[in-house]
Amino acid sequence: MKQALIIYQSKTGTTKKYGFAIRDYLQSLNIEAKAIPVQNYTLEEIENADYVFLGCWTSGLFIILQHPDKIWSEFAQKLPDLSNKKVVLFTTYKLLTGSMFRNMEKQISNKIKRIELTFKAKNTVLSEKDKKELQNLIS
Ligand SMILES: Cc1cc2nc3c(=O)[nH]c(=O)nc-3n(C[C@H](O)[C@H](O)[C@H](O)COP(=O)(O)O)c2cc1C
Repeated sequence: MKQALIIYQSKTGTTKKYGFAIRDYLQSLNIEAKAIPVQNYTLEEIENADYVFLGCWTSGLFIILQHPDKIWSEFAQKLPDLSNKKVVLFTTYKLLTGSMFRNMEKQISNKIKRIELTFKAKNTVLSEKDKKELQNLIS
Protein backbone atom coordinates (compact mmCIF):
# COMPACT_ATOMS: atom_id res chain seq x y z
CA MET A 1 0.00 0.00 0.00
CA LYS A 2 1.34 3.45 -0.91
CA GLN A 3 1.75 5.89 1.95
CA ALA A 4 0.98 9.60 2.12
CA LEU A 5 2.05 11.96 4.85
CA ILE A 6 0.21 15.27 5.08
CA ILE A 7 2.00 17.83 7.22
CA TYR A 8 0.21 21.09 7.90
CA GLN A 9 0.63 24.37 9.68
CA SER A 10 -2.65 25.96 10.63
CA LYS A 11 -3.43 28.89 12.88
CA THR A 12 -7.20 28.79 13.10
CA GLY A 13 -7.95 25.29 11.81
CA THR A 14 -8.82 25.79 8.14
CA THR A 15 -5.60 24.34 6.72
CA LYS A 16 -5.78 21.52 9.23
CA LYS A 17 -9.30 20.61 8.08
CA TYR A 18 -8.31 20.89 4.43
CA GLY A 19 -5.37 18.57 5.18
CA PHE A 20 -7.82 16.16 6.80
CA ALA A 21 -10.03 16.31 3.68
CA ILE A 22 -6.99 15.38 1.55
CA ARG A 23 -6.19 12.54 3.95
CA ASP A 24 -9.75 11.22 3.93
CA TYR A 25 -9.96 11.27 0.16
CA LEU A 26 -6.60 9.53 -0.25
CA GLN A 27 -7.74 6.87 2.22
CA SER A 28 -10.84 6.32 0.10
CA LEU A 29 -8.45 5.65 -2.80
CA ASN A 30 -6.64 2.98 -0.75
CA ILE A 31 -3.65 5.09 0.15
CA GLU A 32 -2.42 4.81 3.72
CA ALA A 33 -2.66 8.50 4.62
CA LYS A 34 -1.87 10.35 7.82
CA ALA A 35 -2.22 14.07 8.58
CA ILE A 36 -0.15 15.74 11.29
CA PRO A 37 0.88 19.27 12.33
CA VAL A 38 4.41 20.50 11.53
CA GLN A 39 5.44 20.05 15.16
CA ASN A 40 4.67 16.33 15.19
CA TYR A 41 6.28 14.64 12.22
CA THR A 42 9.06 12.11 12.60
CA LEU A 43 11.89 11.41 10.15
CA GLU A 44 10.77 7.80 10.00
CA GLU A 45 7.30 8.82 8.86
CA ILE A 46 8.79 10.95 6.11
CA GLU A 47 11.17 8.19 5.07
CA ASN A 48 8.29 5.74 4.71
CA ALA A 49 6.07 8.10 2.72
CA ASP A 50 5.69 7.89 -1.05
CA TYR A 51 3.76 11.16 -1.14
CA VAL A 52 4.49 14.15 1.06
CA PHE A 53 1.89 16.93 1.24
CA LEU A 54 3.12 20.17 2.79
CA GLY A 55 0.49 22.70 3.80
CA CYS A 56 0.48 26.16 5.32
CA TRP A 57 -2.06 28.98 5.65
CA THR A 58 -1.51 32.01 3.38
CA SER A 59 0.01 35.01 5.13
CA GLY A 60 0.46 38.36 3.43
CA LEU A 61 -1.14 41.68 2.75
CA PHE A 62 -4.13 39.96 1.13
CA ILE A 63 -3.36 41.31 -2.37
CA ILE A 64 0.44 41.13 -2.33
CA LEU A 65 3.47 39.57 -0.62
CA GLN A 66 2.01 36.20 0.32
CA HIS A 67 4.37 33.89 2.11
CA PRO A 68 4.29 30.98 4.55
CA ASP A 69 4.25 31.66 8.27
CA LYS A 70 7.60 31.73 10.09
CA ILE A 71 6.70 28.49 11.87
CA TRP A 72 6.33 26.76 8.50
CA SER A 73 9.59 28.23 7.20
CA GLU A 74 11.45 26.95 10.24
CA PHE A 75 9.87 23.54 9.71
CA ALA A 76 10.86 23.64 6.01
CA GLN A 77 14.50 24.37 6.87
CA LYS A 78 14.67 21.20 8.95
CA LEU A 79 13.05 18.87 6.43
CA PRO A 80 15.22 16.02 5.15
CA ASP A 81 15.88 15.27 1.49
CA LEU A 82 12.60 14.65 -0.36
CA SER A 83 14.01 14.05 -3.82
CA ASN A 84 12.65 10.49 -3.98
CA LYS A 85 9.12 11.55 -2.91
CA LYS A 86 6.20 12.98 -4.77
CA VAL A 87 5.81 16.38 -3.15
CA VAL A 88 2.57 18.37 -3.15
CA LEU A 89 1.96 21.83 -1.68
CA PHE A 90 -1.34 23.08 -0.32
CA THR A 91 -2.68 26.23 1.27
CA THR A 92 -5.88 27.88 2.41
CA TYR A 93 -6.55 31.56 1.87
CA LYS A 94 -9.25 34.23 1.83
CA LEU A 95 -8.56 36.35 -1.25
CA LEU A 96 -5.38 35.58 -3.18
CA THR A 97 -2.53 33.09 -2.82
CA GLY A 98 -0.25 35.28 -5.00
CA SER A 99 3.39 34.41 -4.31
CA MET A 100 2.55 31.80 -1.64
CA PHE A 101 3.50 28.64 -3.57
CA ARG A 102 6.60 30.27 -5.10
CA ASN A 103 7.78 31.19 -1.63
CA MET A 104 7.00 27.77 -0.20
CA GLU A 105 8.85 26.08 -3.05
CA LYS A 106 11.86 28.38 -2.69
CA GLN A 107 12.33 27.21 0.87
CA ILE A 108 12.49 23.54 -0.03
CA SER A 109 14.00 23.80 -3.52
CA ASN A 110 17.26 22.15 -2.42
CA LYS A 111 15.39 19.08 -1.13
CA ILE A 112 12.97 18.23 -3.88
CA LYS A 113 13.06 17.16 -7.50
CA ARG A 114 9.93 19.07 -8.32
CA ILE A 115 6.51 19.99 -6.99
CA GLU A 116 3.96 17.59 -8.46
CA LEU A 117 0.86 19.60 -7.65
CA THR A 118 -0.44 22.57 -5.71
CA PHE A 119 -3.84 22.73 -4.04
CA LYS A 120 -5.56 25.80 -2.69
CA ALA A 121 -8.90 26.27 -1.00
CA LYS A 122 -10.95 29.02 0.59
CA ASN A 123 -12.73 26.44 2.68
CA THR A 124 -12.09 22.98 4.04
CA VAL A 125 -13.48 20.73 1.34
CA LEU A 126 -11.94 19.14 -1.72
CA SER A 127 -13.34 20.34 -5.03
CA GLU A 128 -14.08 17.91 -7.86
CA LYS A 129 -10.96 19.30 -9.59
CA ASP A 130 -8.86 18.57 -6.49
CA LYS A 131 -10.20 15.01 -6.44
CA LYS A 132 -9.41 14.43 -10.12
CA GLU A 133 -5.87 15.74 -9.64
CA LEU A 134 -5.34 13.48 -6.63
CA GLN A 135 -6.58 10.51 -8.62
CA ASN A 136 -4.12 11.32 -11.42
CA LEU A 137 -1.27 11.78 -8.95
CA ILE A 138 -1.61 8.32 -7.50
CA SER A 139 -2.46 6.45 -10.69
C1 LIG B 1 -2.11 37.99 9.33
C2 LIG B 1 -2.92 37.35 8.24
C3 LIG B 1 -2.56 37.57 6.93
C4 LIG B 1 -3.30 36.99 5.88
N1 LIG B 1 -2.94 37.23 4.59
C5 LIG B 1 -3.68 36.71 3.56
C6 LIG B 1 -3.33 36.98 2.21
O1 LIG B 1 -2.36 37.67 1.90
N2 LIG B 1 -4.12 36.45 1.25
C7 LIG B 1 -5.21 35.69 1.54
O2 LIG B 1 -5.89 35.28 0.61
N3 LIG B 1 -5.54 35.38 2.80
C8 LIG B 1 -4.80 35.87 3.83
N4 LIG B 1 -5.14 35.58 5.12
C9 LIG B 1 -6.27 34.64 5.38
C10 LIG B 1 -5.78 33.25 5.76
O3 LIG B 1 -4.82 32.78 4.87
C11 LIG B 1 -6.97 32.26 5.75
O4 LIG B 1 -7.94 32.68 6.66
C12 LIG B 1 -6.51 30.83 6.07
O5 LIG B 1 -7.52 29.94 5.65
C13 LIG B 1 -6.22 30.61 7.54
O6 LIG B 1 -5.80 29.29 7.70
P1 LIG B 1 -5.78 28.56 9.12
O7 LIG B 1 -7.22 28.54 9.63
O8 LIG B 1 -5.28 27.20 8.84
O9 LIG B 1 -4.90 29.34 10.04
C14 LIG B 1 -4.43 36.17 6.18
C15 LIG B 1 -4.78 35.93 7.52
C16 LIG B 1 -4.05 36.52 8.54
C17 LIG B 1 -4.43 36.25 9.98
